[in-house]
Amino acid sequence: MNFPPSLVILTGAGISAESGVKTFRDAGGLWEDHRIEDVASPEGFIRDPGLVQRFYNARRRQLPEVRPNAAHAALARLERDWAGDFLLVTQNVDDLHQRAGSMNLIAMHGELLKARCTLCEQASLWSGDITPESICPACGDVGFLRPHIVWFGEMPLEMDRIFRALAGCDVFAAIGTSGNVYPAAGFVDAVPRSCRTVELNLEPSLVASSFRDRRIGRATELVPAWVAEVLANS
Ligand code: APR
Repeated sequence: MNFPPSLVILTGAGISAESGVKTFRDAGGLWEDHRIEDVASPEGFIRDPGLVQRFYNARRRQLPEVRPNAAHAALARLERDWAGDFLLVTQNVDDLHQRAGSMNLIAMHGELLKARCTLCEQASLWSGDITPESICPACGDVGFLRPHIVWFGEMPLEMDRIFRALAGCDVFAAIGTSGNVYPAAGFVDAVPRSCRTVELNLEPSLVASSFRDRRIGRATELVPAWVAEVLANS
């Protein structure tokens, strides 16, 4: 047990749902309109790069229309007021945690607001559409940019740093994630036995039984209440 205790938080699409960002597997979710293999895999990108660029261009265009919600704000407050180590790992590719003020943040599945050059491999900030005429800001080549998104079959980002934080954490919370996708769904199994684990979700996730504490409800209600409780007891 560290003193002050160290905290790792994992978030998924459910924390952004009340901001109006579609989740993946809820009714009406993103995967209802598209096959994962067509828009979220390297093979799909090779097969039809235009379809993949349009899918992410549409999601990138939506970002200015949505805002961080009370759950994002509560996590930024927790980070500010927490005395110990704090790491927020998100599977989300929106920028709502960043806009809420979260700083020690790993976007393990990439970010909509970055483009990656398939020639020089550099990721650059990118807020507009990615098209065949797009020029890489790093190397200047034309037409080689892809979304800086981790697709199925690709390695999530900063896994060493994440597992080091998990191995030493005293509190682990998973918020708004279904437990469908690994490695994130396995993070709860990578924490010390002494770690206090809690799941905050609209319904039990596929790995709910791995958590000591499970709270059911909407993130904008559960997260501010949980943050107040954790800060009061720290
Ligand atoms: N408050 C709390 N939880 C919610 C809310 C809400 N308002 N709305 C939905 N949820 C929960 C759902 O019950 C579900 O368990 O959020 C979870 C969302 O699950 P998914 O849609 O599967 O999203 P996520 O777990 O983030 O998916 C993980 O899969 O498709 C890939 O790369 C993609 O990062 C994504 C990964």
